Amino acid sequence: MKPTIMLIGAGGLGSVILEFLAREDCVGQIVACDLSEERGIAHCNLARVSAVAQGYIPSIGFIPLDIDNKTAVMETVRNEKPDIILSTASMQTWWLPDLLPPEQAALIKSAGFGMWLPVHLTLTMKLMQALYDASYKGITLTAPFPDVVNCVLDRLHLAPTCGVGNLAEIVPKMRLLAAERLHEPLEEVRVLLVAHHALESAVYGEPTDEVPPHYLRIEHKGVDVTEAVGGDELLFAPYAIPPGTAIHFLTAGCTIRLIRAFLSDDEVLIHTPAPEGLPGGYPVIVSNRGLRLASIKGLTLEEAIAINERSHRFDGIERIEDDGTVVFCPEASEVLKTALGYDCERLSPKDSEERAKELITRFKEYAKRYGVIL
Ligand SMILES: NC(=O)c1ccc[n+]([C@@H]2O[C@H](COP(=O)([O-])OP(=O)(O)OC[C@H]3O[C@@H](n4cnc5c(N)ncnc54)[C@H](OP(=O)(O)O)[C@@H]3O)[C@@H](O)[C@H]2O)c1
Repeated sequence: MKPTIMLIGAGGLGSVILEFLAREDCVGQIVACDLSEERGIAHCNLARVSAVAQGYIPSIGFIPLDIDNKTAVMETVRNEKPDIILSTASMQTWWLPDLLPPEQAALIKSAGFGMWLPVHLTLTMKLMQALYDASYKGITLTAPFPDVVNCVLDRLHLAPTCGVGNLAEIVPKMRLLAAERLHEPLEEVRVLLVAHHALESAVYGEPTDEVPPHYLRIEHKGVDVTEAVGGDELLFAPYAIPPGTAIHFLTAGCTIRLIRAFLSDDEVLIHTPAPEGLPGGYPVIVSNRGLRLASIKGLTLEEAIAINERSHRFDGIERIEDDGTVVFCPEASEVLKTALGYDCERLSPKDSEERAKELITRFKEYAKRYGVIL
């Protein structure tokens, strides 16, 4: 029987992933879930008719689901028995600061993405607690800021299998440019990358004074050609993509490839953020037997983890403590304290929901002062 995939969150990213999933022959039942029944049903209808128009026959059902309702999550998972759960549910999307006038947008973004942690952490934490209590043993993939969120959850013994997107979105650019420079077929070019969420904006064109640490190896037919092709130069080579939510197509492409790998008899080398709750992202080997870290010639796992731990500060995060408390860089917390009146130097997971609600409210008030109604 073909596998059942449960997709939680049919917002900006989730609805694009739904469209891609509807065109996947290896997928059986798709169970889409979202807070809003009206919007969820509309997105499922669109995915159905679009996929049929293109020549596929998907099987898509919709279930209204509120992650805040733990009993409902547990019941849904027990009833539907998904092989893979993929969550994109989040209390707020990532691109709202871009709606502000340029000066205010630049100021708020200078705090770093990490300061928004509670809006990404809260629902993933609730979901993972519900799945743990429901004794769910399948694969769990998560989109909200996995490089840090899943690492916090690991401290609470609630880490999802891995994240989606982020460093996986850098790899196709590297393969394309390296193949072009080598004048060799793309299929013969392999990339091994250790990198954090914080690196991606620099790779897709946002100017930065200092680049987060990372490890990059490019191979052609198994031979290291990183220096020969100018690996780091390619990493930051201009590669214009449309701003804003268009990048969800890239995230969705990476996510579908990861799902295919988890359904495959053969082992696939692929990149994921936060495999088993590690900080940042890594190359991994995935098949229907599970996930393990890929070995990298000349780089130990400890060195790879250290690279990503050093990268946290580029997202405004100083460290993650043993109990999951996140300590923010003083200059990052200062930005939101001054601009929004949001004073948060440390975030304990137990305070995440309350701090998320406060941050969302204060950000809305700030945006309104500059004529933006959220
Ligand atoms: N890893 C990556 O590469 C990557 C790429 C893009 C985005 N992301 C992350 O993915 C997340 C989603 O982004 P997005 O742009 O899709 O955001 P979005 O458009 O706001 O979608 C979030 C969805 O979560 C739903 N939701 C909110 N509260 C819920 C609850 N209690 N129970 C169930 N569902 C709930 C929302 O429903 P309502 O609208 O009805 O509230 C909405 O459909 C964010 O954390 C974003 O940062 C990650």
